[in-house]
Amino acid sequence: MRIRRPILAANWKMNLGRPEDALEFMRRIRFALNAIDTSDRVVCPPFTSLPAVSEALAATSIAVGAQNMHFEEQGAHTGEISAAMLAGLCKFVILGHSERRAAGGTLETDAAINRKVKAALAKDLTPIVCVGENLAQMEAGETNTWVSGQVSSAFEGLSPAQVARCVIAYEPIWAIGTGKAATPADANRVIALSIRGTITDRFGEDVAQAVRVQYGGSATVDNIAEFMAMPEIDGALVGGASLKPDYVDLVRRAVEAAGSR
Ligand code: PGA
Repeated sequence: MRIRRPILAANWKMNLGRPEDALEFMRRIRFALNAIDTSDRVVCPPFTSLPAVSEALAATSIAVGAQNMHFEEQGAHTGEISAAMLAGLCKFVILGHSERRAAGGTLETDAAINRKVKAALAKDLTPIVCVGENLAQMEAGETNTWVSGQVSSAFEGLSPAQVARCVIAYEPIWAIGTGKAATPADANRVIALSIRGTITDRFGEDVAQAVRVQYGGSATVDNIAEFMAMPEIDGALVGGASLKPDYVDLVRRAVEAAGSR
């Protein structure tokens, strides 16, 4: 029997950033998405439409997330947003997305992401921590070493209870936005070995079984059920497919597939 509640998160990336566009899209899917309440559903708009979406969803069971944040609470960090600023506006925050890690810089190192995870938890935000290997690493057979290293660093210094509250998104970089998703069996294996295995070693079996792990990378309405049928996969972080009105069907299928396994 499944003990982990499914969690489907929509990562809008740099789209629907004008409040009127975000609200127009949400108006089309809100009612149906709200009704699928046997799962956690999270919508992650750009910062500029976050307040409007947050207000529009306040009376629903749909949660809101941010796409990034800084680890400091305030100060001379031009263009940055802190956990303190997000608290009250949203409940989740995506951290360490590969598109941000790829942009590089001191704010996206493993150590910085670890600081962000701690800062988010301190403000009662749930981090969605992204990990995943690139194509060369996958082809060289380095996936396990890489992903378990990312997991270890992200949660360094946290208590078991704090780790259990987090969500992890396994997103192979070669699968993001390419239309070439991982096979459900491969994703399931990496999550079991490199993610839950690493968490078992560091924080114990109970935490590894409690933490929710999503798959991300070209998840669609057509392939989601196969991912959700896998025992280690608790949901998805969805980019491109979350911008279409049939995203509601994706969530519905995901929850149905999770319930029937
Ligand atoms: P995609 O993006 O679904 O468009 O592949 C997923 C992500 O980057 O979170």
